[in-house]
Amino acid sequence: MENHINDKRYSLEDLPENVAKFYRSVPFPHDYATNFKSIKEFARQCQLSHSKTILITSGGTIVPIEKNMVRYLDNFSGGGRGAATAEYFLEHGYHVLFLYRKNSLQPFIRHLMLHDTNFFTFLSYNPEQHLAYVSDTYKEQVSNLFMKWKSYIDSGRLLRVHFETVGEYLYYLRASTIELSTLKRNMIIFAAAAVSDFYIPLDQMSEHKIQSKNEGLTINLDPVPKLLKLVVSEWAPDAYTVSFKLETDINILDAKCQTSLNSYHHQLVIGNLLSDYKNWVVFHTPSKPAMYIRKTEQQIKDHVDIEPMIGERLKDLHRIYCDHPPHTTTNH
Ligand code: PMT
Repeated sequence: MENHINDKRYSLEDLPENVAKFYRSVPFPHDYATNFKSIKEFARQCQLSHSKTILITSGGTIVPIEKNMVRYLDNFSGGGRGAATAEYFLEHGYHVLFLYRKNSLQPFIRHLMLHDTNFFTFLSYNPEQHLAYVSDTYKEQVSNLFMKWKSYIDSGRLLRVHFETVGEYLYYLRASTIELSTLKRNMIIFAAAAVSDFYIPLDQMSEHKIQSKNEGLTINLDPVPKLLKLVVSEWAPDAYTVSFKLETDINILDAKCQTSLNSYHHQLVIGNLLSDYKNWVVFHTPSKPAMYIRKTEQQIKDHVDIEPMIGERLKDLHRIYCDHPPHTTTNH
């Protein structure tokens, strides 16, 4: 917290009561000071290099139900969408701040973590030399993926910060959007994380593991404030902000996307359906009819990623956004 003394942008006093209450009711992230410094330095480097930058949030947040956490509530998301999107934007010259759920999928090395190509099936181990070898068949593929991952990290183009709880996520979302806001229109916020809608404030949480006494458990959950509103209106008002809407009923998807656009006044909502989210998505913007991005039957059969198609369209929208300063008429 000492990082924010005298920085009005982080003052809880000026926030809506429910948001300030939320920040006071969840623990501060463990490694916050170190990660905050890295985020600040990353923002400085992006600004110096005039680089286009994307903040990608990825994976699901958890809600602990005990202070000494044994149990928690989780949200659906493996982090595939965020990781694949990070790959696309890194390969297209962007700096990427990857805010991801601990142990979820990572750009490039995600290919080694998938079930059908499990990394460990590539390896053999020589105990005398303490070395692991990759079989010849996969040597090139594995080293390419590792080298890309490592070189983007080493060159400072990819910064990774992880969260686990919804509290940690919202602390880092605030820090990332505020610090990167100096990039103005050069920044995209791509909020693909599946964020918990409810949480248990610290003062209502059991200290120790809740004991089962052969009876049911009733827990009261408070609503998590919707921080997208603050991101768009206060923390990074010039960024091109993209949120996601995940639904299970196709009949309400478009309406929910439109409601989200009308509530937050941001640039793009990407709607997707749980049953089919890897095969098609729909783009809702304030000024254009809904636009669907679909994989072909062949692409579905071949397990081709949809994220490069999403990335390509988004990159175009961002370019148009950057080319139109606020005082000119935009039609994106
Ligand atoms: O990771 P994968 O397994 O590949 O799955 C990807 C996905 C299906 C999870 C992804 O495509 C997706 O849809 N993510 C958003 C899920 C969702 O419905 O989020 P939400 O309704 O909780 O939030 C809507 C939007 O507001 C999201 O962009 C979220 O990041 C943002 N939000 C939500 C709550 C909150 N307190 N603050 C927020 O900013």
